[in-house]
Formats: sequence, structure tokens, C-alpha cells
Amino acid sequence: MRIELYHASKFGNGAKVAEELRRVMEAHGHQLNTHHVKDANPKNLPPADLYIFGSPTRMGRPIGSMRRFIKKVPLPPGTKYAIFATHADEVPDKKTGKMPTEEELNRLRRTIPDLDEILREKGLVKVADKVFNVNPETMKGPLKEGWQEKVEVFTAQILKSF
Ligand SMILES: Cc1cc2nc3c(=O)[nH]c(=O)nc-3n(C[C@H](O)[C@H](O)[C@H](O)COP(=O)(O)O)c2cc1C
Repeated sequence: MRIELYHASKFGNGAKVAEELRRVMEAHGHQLNTHHVKDANPKNLPPADLYIFGSPTRMGRPIGSMRRFIKKVPLPPGTKYAIFATHADEVPDKKTGKMPTEEELNRLRRTIPDLDEILREKGLVKVADKVFNVNPETMKGPLKEGWQEKVEVFTAQILKSF
């Protein structure tokens, strides 16, 4: 299978996830090429069996460069995609000291749903998604421990759909 991955990593965490996905997919016998969106032309993507998009988060939403990239992509309906977002890890509420609930997190974290909405309107079909967390104190990384295992799980979810 041929996979093209586009990410918009700013501090290198998403790029690291992309590189690990490449390594794991290759170990399964698949070809995965990674690109930063700034080096790619969204209107001219090479043919692939699957496209993976990876986006950092700004104010709970996808970084502008990824949103703009995805809006321009002219992939035909039925094309399969997977998506990952990097987010700052959850922290307890300053007032209550409580961790956010699943429902609250879903309200705060719109990176994947926002990008899904754009891609769904184009008729693309999602096969998997995954959130990766970075250190919430720096907001810039490193990735939270266990991220490589998450890459393995994400890969398995993707491969199951083929
Ligand atoms: C200005 C700014 C705003 C951010 N806002 C959020 C946010 O609202 N929610 C969140 O989960 N992470 C937020 N982050 C953390 C980013 O998601 C994190 O830096 C990024 O995912 C790391 O990935 P990268 O190394 O690939 O750029 C913010 C980071 C910056 C610099």
C-alpha cells in the first residue's frame, strides 16, 4: 500500500509521530512518504491508497496552515484518509482541581472534528484518528510517554480497514 502523509508540525512533535508512522508502516511492508505542508502543493498530491493528515492545535482548533491545505485538496470522493492531532496534555481545572471529563475534552478539542468536517464535505472517508499529547507546561513537547505505542495502535486501526 502507498501512503502519503502531510503534517504541519511547528515544534517537531507531529514530525516525530509522522516519522514513527513511516517506520512502523514500512515494517508492515507499506510505503509511507511524509511531507510538511509548507513543502507540498495541496492541488497536486501524488496518487495513494491512503492519505494521513497531522495537525498541531491552536486555541482548540487546527493550525491555520493545515486547515488551508486541506481546504485546497482536490481528492476524489471515496478517497480514504486517517488523521492525527497533537494537543497539549490534559491538566486539572485551576479552580476545581478536577481533570476535564471526556465531554469537556470533546468540546475543547476541535482539531480532528474541524478537519473531518472539511474532508467529509469533499466525500472523503475516514479510517482512523488519534490524538497525541505533548507536555502541557511547555506546550511545545516532548510527546507524552507511550506515544510510540499509540502509533502502533493507530497503525493497526488503519490497516484493519484495508
Ligand atoms: C499559541 C499556541 C496555542 C496553543 N493552543 C492549544 C490549545 O488550545 N489546545 C491544545 O491542546 N494545544 C494547544 N497548543 C499546543 C500545541 O497543540 C502543541 O504545541 C503542538 O501540538 C505540538 O505539535 P508540533 O510540535 O508538531 O508543532 C498551543 C500551542 C501554541 C504555541
